[in-house]
Amino acid sequence: MSFPDGFLWGAGTSAYQIEGHHGRGESVWEVFCRRPGAVEGGGDGSRACDSFLRWREDVELVKELGLSAYRFSTGWSRVMPDGAHADPEALDHYERFTDALLEAGVEPVLTLNHWDMPSSLTWAERSSVNAFTAYAQAVADRLADRVTWWITQNEPWIIALLGYQLGLHAPGVADLGTAVKAGHHVLLGHGAAADVLHAHAGTRAGCALSLFPCDPATGSQADRAAARGSDGYVNRWYLDPLLGDGYPADMREHWERALGHGLDFIQDGDEAAIGGRSDFLGVNYYTRRVMAAAPPDPFPWKVVGPSGDVARTDEGWEINPGALRDLLAGLSGRFPGTPLMITENGGVFGDTPAHDGRVHDTRRIAYLRDHVAAVQEALDAGADVRGYLHWSLMDNFEWALGYRPRFGLVHVDYATGARTVKDSGRYYARLIAGGGTAPALPRIEAYG
Ligand code: FCB
Repeated sequence: MSFPDGFLWGAGTSAYQIEGHHGRGESVWEVFCRRPGAVEGGGDGSRACDSFLRWREDVELVKELGLSAYRFSTGWSRVMPDGAHADPEALDHYERFTDALLEAGVEPVLTLNHWDMPSSLTWAERSSVNAFTAYAQAVADRLADRVTWWITQNEPWIIALLGYQLGLHAPGVADLGTAVKAGHHVLLGHGAAADVLHAHAGTRAGCALSLFPCDPATGSQADRAAARGSDGYVNRWYLDPLLGDGYPADMREHWERALGHGLDFIQDGDEAAIGGRSDFLGVNYYTRRVMAAAPPDPFPWKVVGPSGDVARTDEGWEINPGALRDLLAGLSGRFPGTPLMITENGGVFGDTPAHDGRVHDTRRIAYLRDHVAAVQEALDAGADVRGYLHWSLMDNFEWALGYRPRFGLVHVDYATGARTVKDSGRYYARLIAGGGTAPALPRIEAYG
């Protein structure tokens, strides 16, 4: 079978990771990057890929790859430097950018919050929801007449986990109770922004979740319970309320036990304000979690695997396309009527230009081929998948890991800003031109 007509083939980036500073307001990431030791290599997003200035080149790359969709984010701290008032010139920039995509026949997929919240705000406070709503309003007023696909929030769990529970991302808070509360405010922000977008005809609003299938390490009852708990913590706590089922009871009990108090920040009416507003679900998939039982403090589960000789990216993440197929099929089975869009999928492969000036990233080609095949299998099994957006269009600032991990279909030389389409980018272009059929590449059979 083939991919459906209108299936979106794309790639993604986000503002803080590629744009460079160039007059934007201070975001929580500017502040966080100044903390000694916060970012590997001591880097920050002040220059990144310089895309704020080189955006025309980026549009050319999108065209060269033949993408039918491009996911980017409007910089929250650029649009609203003080967290409250929109800067019309920043909106002019995103309007020019959007129009250039549309002129090239490329569907824009616009993310509102890809983590660059103005530094005057914090998700720990409920008032952040109003600030986010005002920002969504400002961007929608300018662009909702021409952008169909909107992603309100990128990865609520990762924001809560790395930003507020472990302190590994901005704003660098390490407090479990604050993390659960912040995650709730992020979801409320999704609901409010979706309402703003729905006041404009033809928009489709969704939230992008980082979904990690959770498998038990053994068939034991205890490990199966651990996998179920981890699934609740990582996936169901966000999926269920977004898709209208409210917060799952087992996880509510878990949090009340772990925190030692009730979840009073979840007010009457909140779940109704989060659910039933998603026109699609954004799926960010990288790898799975293999779980075993653990002493209960604070979580009665731990990540243990996978063990053994499995294929991995250069960041050590297991490469498992079958888990993507099962994830998509499972989501469509559980939430019929909610279309899925793969809003991120990719891996770190560190290849850089060889003697011939080209980047022979054969393992990314294999990764791409196998994950697209998994999407095809999910479609064949009845999943309603509308698009595949690879992460990332180009190498960029990978948050606390700095510039070391390379996720791009396009190589970026950070000293000069020069972009070089990698072999994987060329391969993707051929795959897209063939409607998703993998070009024959007999050389590439394994991850090597
Ligand atoms: C996701 C983020 C994205 C990028 C990839 C590798 O969690 O949404 O910005 O960092 O991981």
